[in-house]
Amino acid sequence: MSYPYQIKTADQYKTAYEKSVNDPEGFWAEIAASFYWRKKWDKVLEWDFKTPTIKWFAGGKLNITENCIDRHLGTLGNTPAIIWEPNDPEEHHRVLTYRDLHAKVCQFANVLKNNGVKKGDRVCIYMGMVPELAIAVLACARIGAIHSVVFGGFSAQSIADRLQDAKAEFVVTCDGAFRGNKEIPLKGVIDDALVQCPFVKRVIVLTRTRTPVSMIKGRDVWWEDEIKIVETQGNPDCVAEEMDAEDMLFILYTSGSTGKPKGVVHTVGGYMVYSNYSFVNVFQYQPGEVHFCTADIGWITGHSYIVYGPLSAGATSLMFEGVPTWPDAGRFWEIVDKFKVNVLYTAPTAIRSLMGFGLDPLKGRSLTSLKVLGSVGEPINEEAWHWFDDNIGKNKCPIVDTWWQTETGGILISNLAGVTPAKPAHATLPLPGVQPVLVDENGKEITGNSVSGNLCIKFPWPGILRTTYGDHERCRLNYFATYENLYFTGDGCLRDEAGNYRITGRVDDVLNVSGHRIGTAEVENAINMHAGVVESAVVGYPHDIKGQGIYAFVIYQGAHGGDEALGRKDITQTVARIIGAIAKPDKIQFVSGLPKTRSGKIMRRILRKIAEGEVDKLGDTTTLLDPAVVEEIAKGRL
Ligand code: WTA
Repeated sequence: MSYPYQIKTADQYKTAYEKSVNDPEGFWAEIAASFYWRKKWDKVLEWDFKTPTIKWFAGGKLNITENCIDRHLGTLGNTPAIIWEPNDPEEHHRVLTYRDLHAKVCQFANVLKNNGVKKGDRVCIYMGMVPELAIAVLACARIGAIHSVVFGGFSAQSIADRLQDAKAEFVVTCDGAFRGNKEIPLKGVIDDALVQCPFVKRVIVLTRTRTPVSMIKGRDVWWEDEIKIVETQGNPDCVAEEMDAEDMLFILYTSGSTGKPKGVVHTVGGYMVYSNYSFVNVFQYQPGEVHFCTADIGWITGHSYIVYGPLSAGATSLMFEGVPTWPDAGRFWEIVDKFKVNVLYTAPTAIRSLMGFGLDPLKGRSLTSLKVLGSVGEPINEEAWHWFDDNIGKNKCPIVDTWWQTETGGILISNLAGVTPAKPAHATLPLPGVQPVLVDENGKEITGNSVSGNLCIKFPWPGILRTTYGDHERCRLNYFATYENLYFTGDGCLRDEAGNYRITGRVDDVLNVSGHRIGTAEVENAINMHAGVVESAVVGYPHDIKGQGIYAFVIYQGAHGGDEALGRKDITQTVARIIGAIAKPDKIQFVSGLPKTRSGKIMRRILRKIAEGEVDKLGDTTTLLDPAVVEEIAKGRL
């Protein structure tokens, strides 16, 4: 596999960037031409951010799995497509070559068909990090079904919300998942979710943990049994469904500042081109290298940089079932040496947590195979950046600090490994095709350098979201209505004297906890479901390892005869039940009132300052309904 569009020098980056701005259609047409299309597109780009309407490669016909698998079979048939490392280091790892992957994806695509899944149907995938998760994703894409992967840490209620929103009639899951020393009963969680989702017709269950599960007659079937049926049918192939470039490929739910998570929609053609282009350029992938992205496929990072980006590039993608700290904090380094990993792409929260274990876990590890390191999901602080650089990359591996979002489909701002310069804690420069602007609150563009503002993008790139599932207006309001003719990211950003971008974090009510996006409103709604809670307000505060922690101020009328400690535990448990363990508050402070304006709006600004420990910088509190409450809250700060 060669990548004619791989940028190799800083000058080439400049030229590519200029071309992408002056002639975006020509620029992307040239890149898209190196993929396999059954029919070429009629028009490269049609767009209008007002509505929004965005179409890339309209009229083009293709199937993304033919690009991720079939087209490699001739040359890379025996090359590992997926290397899988299990949770337990004593269990044997698995290697799937491109030929194996083809066979397995076709097989499971036929299973889906046998079970009534058709083009356009939504399939919810709730699995641990096993190769079958990637296989299920690709099998959906093969037959034109729309996958919606839900991270294995989400609760039954969260799954039910997503199933209802997507009107998904099919679920693929596992009996359970292994994560560190935990066993998560995935099928049991699905069963709880399905009580609210009688429209689900079929659940396909993979055996992984051998956790006992209940199987409902007429609804639930075993993955292995279904494979046997396909084998007896004797057709090892599954012809890929012909898709329009703008047909939906997947829905991925993500948190916003209001209401329930939104189903971000990506389409086949543009997403394929962008996830591939960004993969090849940011990581400077070379054929034969092993790419290890430590994310879960339940998040966008796993979609784009474990599955679609690497596989469309014929790369070897390493998938890890477990966690970085089990059985000990040397697990990542053991994996790097075991498989001679060349690219390691992880999150600042993981780096910070491993830093805490010191250098002992690195003893006896050479890490010499590493060429490129990457960071994603949240701002990386300089201390973590340098620790990563010194101890893991041994100052020899460029670090790419990649800024992007579920909505952007792929990396938008990042240095290109070894090609454009890195700067600690800075995502640095936009990829070709990406036109960032900073604006003030009124949407006025802030020009020049050494400035800060809200980060927007003024021109579409192929990986941009097309809609939010079932509610296009919500997509418009969320991303395209804040500032006219701009895509608004929700992030604040600095541009330094040399034009490098530094993302400073969300400016809306979205938290980023260990790189996971969580809406404050979602957490509040969950807390408010607890019988003893009158009202609550949730804000983020700086957390050494998680980046941000969740701080909840709760008006509590008591339960358990006034046992506050037990009350806190119950509230935490309620949040875990409603959303999932990732949204558990780190701190719960009981208060008698919340700071509100005369019109009844909670002044989060003040709560944020208190949570951050800046009680002497509360600013003007005179407009509050009851200024005394602020003093009380500040005094009781945890
Ligand atoms: C944050 C994850 C600083 C940002 C791919 C964004 C980052 C949100 C970075 C999206 C980075 C992601 N530096 N902040 N390199 N990467 N973010 O949708 O606030 O899970 O808006 O996508 O993560 O999170 P999401």
